[in-house]
Amino acid sequence: MNILVTGSNGQLGNEMRVLSASHPNHRYFFTDVVELDITCREAVLDYVRTNAIDLIVNCAAYTNVDRAEEDEPTALRINADAVANLAATGVRVIHISTDYVFSGDEHRPCREDDPVAPRTAYGRTKLAGEQQLLALCPEAVILRTAWLYSTYGNNFVKTMIRLGQEKPELGVVFDQIGTPTYAADLAAAIFTVIEAPEWHPGIYHFTNEGVCSWYDFTLAIHDLAGISSCHVRPILSSEYQYKTPRPHYSVLDKSKFKQTFGVSIPYWLEGLKRCIAKL
Ligand SMILES: NC(=O)c1ccc[n+]([C@@H]2O[C@H](COP(=O)([O-])OP(=O)(O)OC[C@H]3O[C@@H](n4cnc5c(N)ncnc54)[C@H](OP(=O)(O)O)[C@@H]3O)[C@@H](O)[C@H]2O)c1
Repeated sequence: MNILVTGSNGQLGNEMRVLSASHPNHRYFFTDVVELDITCREAVLDYVRTNAIDLIVNCAAYTNVDRAEEDEPTALRINADAVANLAATGVRVIHISTDYVFSGDEHRPCREDDPVAPRTAYGRTKLAGEQQLLALCPEAVILRTAWLYSTYGNNFVKTMIRLGQEKPELGVVFDQIGTPTYAADLAAAIFTVIEAPEWHPGIYHFTNEGVCSWYDFTLAIHDLAGISSCHVRPILSSEYQYKTPRPHYSVLDKSKFKQTFGVSIPYWLEGLKRCIAKL
């Protein structure tokens, strides 16, 4: 197959690039905004036609949650209108979405068919992207993920390593629960979808296994990175000046993905160990 990967300079896009070497049966077209700005419909249609693309893996997104709050129209253009451009090509699409489509008020893992209720501009634009894609391309696969990190790009793991090396003390919230997800494991899940004997359209949840708070996550990061000079203090969300509300409980139920594709998913700490070993 000819596979177009958009947003390939991001965390997930880079992990797709790495993993593609283990799947040499396909031809890959890795692009980011310079090579292919997905907000430009003509450019998208032309690129897909010219390169006889069979499948699009959309790793491009507007991912800055705080900035989206101040500039929702731009976030909407990239997270929703551009997704409609990809759908307009008529080829199969694997699209990545987020736990932020939910309110985060539940106290149990969210299933794919649970009611959506985004609380942020980012969440609203990502939900609009899901809806536009499914309306135009019912054959699409949407993977909702959360708490993504990688050796590539800026993310929580790298920030906590840096702060742990710089500061003697750090307050990290312990009342927000979720699942850290190594982007390499999400890339592997995407290849599971691509290589499955049958195409299974629909929405799926994919994160690593298990749950923790940002505080627990930070302790594990410092432990694995050999940082012992920084005291990490558990704090409440109300003590931290968030510009944008954060979900209190954003655990995703992955049963549908595991059952449909017959796979097991690595535990979050195991993914973190592999990532930090590479850093
Ligand atoms: N990060 C998380 O914690 C998280 C959590 C849940 C879901 N997700 C979802 O997971 C997916 C992958 O996230 P990620 O963390 O890998 O994102 P990322 O690192 O921010 O990468 C996104 C890439 O898309 C590029 N891009 C932006 N606008 C574009 C455009 N118009 N055309 C083409 N490319 C464009 C970005 O370029 P610039 O950097 O130049 O803008 C960047 O290289 C996204 O759909 C995101 O919403 C992420």
